[in-house]
Amino acid sequence: AVETTFDASLRGVNVLVSAGGTREPIDAVRFIGNRSSGRMGFAVAEQAQRRGANVTVVAANVSLPRATGIEYVDVVTAAELADACAARFDACDVLIMAAAVADYRPEAAHGGKLKKDQTGEELNLRLVRTTDVLSSLADRRRPGQTIVGFAAEHGDGALAYGRGKLERKHLDAVVVNDVSGAGIGFDAADNEVWIVTAEGEHHVPKTSKDAVAAAILDAVLNHSSSNDT
Ligand code: CTP
Ligand code: CA
Repeated sequence: AVETTFDASLRGVNVLVSAGGTREPIDAVRFIGNRSSGRMGFAVAEQAQRRGANVTVVAANVSLPRATGIEYVDVVTAAELADACAARFDACDVLIMAAAVADYRPEAAHGGKLKKDQTGEELNLRLVRTTDVLSSLADRRRPGQTIVGFAAEHGDGALAYGRGKLERKHLDAVVVNDVSGAGIGFDAADNEVWIVTAEGEHHVPKTSKDAVAAAILDAVLNHSSSNDT
């Protein structure tokens, strides 16, 4: 007989996950984007569903297969992602912000397609800051909500930057990955992370994004049970 195990550790818990990477329009056909595929966020969402959670994913430009039973809300820009997450935040128990959100967007998108004979030898784009979705949601959290951020860092000091984000954004956990490593991070099947909480950090050596997702949810559960005591 096939042995099936059912982990119901997140039964009835409402989990909101953001995934993918935002795109900020330059004109009708071009955008400023990033290399996030959405794989890490989708893996977290599917893992949470397997543990019995009610899962909503705010997906920014993700072209991956979708799981039955998960609600997906598609967005394109950082502003759309902010609105979609804000509208669903109060109803969630756990927010996991895996999306790569643009820090800057073109101040104004050109309505049509920019043509070289209009723009000439140089094209200067003026970029303005987007709002930090994670910080603004963490600032209006209610007691009992668990908030997990990601920090994609490059090279030396990755862990210190991650710890800084934990404190500055008032998060329960930050998942730090050093995207300078080969075969991990952006668009890769595997990842290697440090899960940083107020209690310390937990290293997850290079493994599948599914296994990393499981480790993240384990950390979330530990955190909420330590809140209870
Ligand atoms: N984030 C967000 N809204 C933004 C930018 C980032 O919600 N406008 C979230 C990301 O989804 C991630 C966390 O903040 O969970 C950290 O993102 P990251 O880019 O690593 O950090 P920043 O605070 O943007 O700092 P920097 O890019 O300068 O390192
Ligand atoms: Ca950023």
